[in-house]
Amino acid sequence: MQVILRNIGDCNIRRAEPSDLISVMEINLKTLPEHYSDYFYESLLSELPEAFIIAEVAGKHVGYIMCKTEFGFSNFKKLGFVKKGHVVSIAVIDEYRKKGIGNALVEESVNGVKIQKCDEFYLEVRCSNNEAVRLYEKLGFVIKQQLNAYYRDGEDAYLMAIEFD
Ligand code: ACO
Ligand code: ZN
Repeated sequence: MQVILRNIGDCNIRRAEPSDLISVMEINLKTLPEHYSDYFYESLLSELPEAFIIAEVAGKHVGYIMCKTEFGFSNFKKLGFVKKGHVVSIAVIDEYRKKGIGNALVEESVNGVKIQKCDEFYLEVRCSNNEAVRLYEKLGFVIKQQLNAYYRDGEDAYLMAIEFD
């Protein structure tokens, strides 16, 4: 059964299902240089379906966010060991950007990782990716670190994170 989370105009924001994964991979290939194996997409969906979210307009996939959970050192508390949500990847296809879809995908993934009792949520983003950095900042993420040559092409990443109450 499809779990619809909200609508933005004619765009449905809903949880992903296995039959969505091919389209998610296609969007990823078109929009980002970081790609993953089929198995990785399947494992993210089976391990954290609450935060694997699709944006769809009239049956066409236009965006996704997918995440995982990890245990590790806090990005906020000295010496704290916490459960963290991690945004692995988010993208909206070009023609559907600047309509609030990216914002909705991140907000719904925040709800999803909270269901899984995460204490924090974090991600890496290219330092040059102003659109994405602005989106995360508006939602309360803060830059915690700059990761030197994080990407294969040598670009640095910002590690951005948000702490839940
Ligand atoms: N009318 C006009 N502007 C609007 C409207 C509207 N109805 N709704 C939102 N906006 C504005 C927002 O205010 C925001 O403006 P700002 O950048 O000036 O602050 C801007 O549109 C973007 O916000 P959204 O629409 O919520 O986000 P969007 O759907 O455009 O998606 C994203 C953002 C995902 C970063 C997109 O640009 C993208 O897919 N980029 C390529 C892939 C990418 O870089 N992904 C992130 C990599 S990092 C990682 O994956 C962890
Ligand atoms: Zn990451």
